[in-house]
Amino acid sequence: MDGGIAWGLTVAVALAAAGGGYVFGRRRPAPVAGPQPLRDPAPLEVLRHAFAALPDACLLIDLYGRVVMRNTAAGDLTGAVEGKPFAAAFRIPAVLQAVDRVLDEGPAEEISFTLPVPIERTIEAHVAPLGAAGYGAHAVVLLRDTTAMTRVERMRADFVANASHELRTPLTSLSGFIETIRGPARDDPEAQARFLEIMQTQADRMRRLIDDLLSLSRIELNEHVRPSGKVDLAGIAGDVVDAVQPQLGRAGIKAIITAEPGVPSVLGERDELIQVVQNLLDNAVKYGSEGGDVAIRIGAVQELTGMMVTCAVSDKGPGIAREHLPRLTERFYRVDAKASRERGGTGLGLAIVKHIVNRHRGRLEIESEPGQGSRFTVFLPALTAS
Ligand SMILES: Nc1ncnc2c1ncn2[C@@H]1O[C@H](COP(=O)(O)OP(=O)(O)O)[C@@H](O)[C@H]1O
Ligand SMILES: [Mg+2]
Repeated sequence: MDGGIAWGLTVAVALAAAGGGYVFGRRRPAPVAGPQPLRDPAPLEVLRHAFAALPDACLLIDLYGRVVMRNTAAGDLTGAVEGKPFAAAFRIPAVLQAVDRVLDEGPAEEISFTLPVPIERTIEAHVAPLGAAGYGAHAVVLLRDTTAMTRVERMRADFVANASHELRTPLTSLSGFIETIRGPARDDPEAQARFLEIMQTQADRMRRLIDDLLSLSRIELNEHVRPSGKVDLAGIAGDVVDAVQPQLGRAGIKAIITAEPGVPSVLGERDELIQVVQNLLDNAVKYGSEGGDVAIRIGAVQELTGMMVTCAVSDKGPGIAREHLPRLTERFYRVDAKASRERGGTGLGLAIVKHIVNRHRGRLEIESEPGQGSRFTVFLPALTAS
């Protein structure tokens, strides 16, 4: 629940408890007959139920700084005990001082602080007077854990730093070669040809990075929109394999597609699903083809949530150590960054796969044993007749 709504609800219920005259939603008519749920139970009981219904930690503090009421979340977070001073359990001076000021008729305050144990968390506190006239001075404290939000912000900042670094490296190399060609290698056509080739490689790398960054941001923008096309995964796998046939031929490997009969179509965006199969096949060829051919298997499984169509891309390459598996879909995460760059990787392929699969309400499973090869399986909801 949004903090403002939670806070509004608390005040509304508190006012109802105090005066009994508040009607939820002004435009709704007041109940005329039958039990009146807000008045019947003892007022503090109503408030207690409201507190219990809130996902965030909340406490009601009286003029003497004692805890009149707290919900379970507040007990867990602050250790506060009803009837005892709040300051006896909770020792964050900024929050306690805010409570004091509010009890001295000050305005509502927002404070952000961190709790170091048991794991570091960022908490935002909202301290507000219980504003009913004549109700006596009380303060309501609402505490919300914003650690996850803060972490997302940090990840964004890291991402920009990583992307800039990845782009700067080839750019630095390009600038260096331009200087060399204009300076020491001015009259050396042989060296120039060699340098121009390297420059071409670096420029290609920058282009791939920018392409991948743009795809990623486009997919992220659309992630909440459900795709609407009807897509046949076996057909897509066939198209992708046809398109990379020249590279496969050069590398001397085959991509073998097998499809179970009668696999349903999926609700999907064709271009995005092509990208999924392409990225998985590209990885299998780049990192796993020492083991020989690559297999793409299209199937279907019945799961509790419904029928899923699967596309598994397997190789018999060196595999991936267990500790890397959970992180492979992170942006720029690579088991061996140098090996990835040498093969034209950007470190974004699996992040793109993950986002596309999320948008399709599917999932990606990665199985790998060092020495045994790897299998990347995409599960996508089948398009059912209904
Ligand atoms: N089939 C595979 N076999 C071994 N390692 C793989 C395989 N697929 C992916 N990886 C590892 O996962 C990393 C991330 O993959 P990806 O996001 O596609 O980035 P990129 O291929 O550009 O490096 C790769 O750098 C590689 O270390
Ligand atoms: Mg890749």
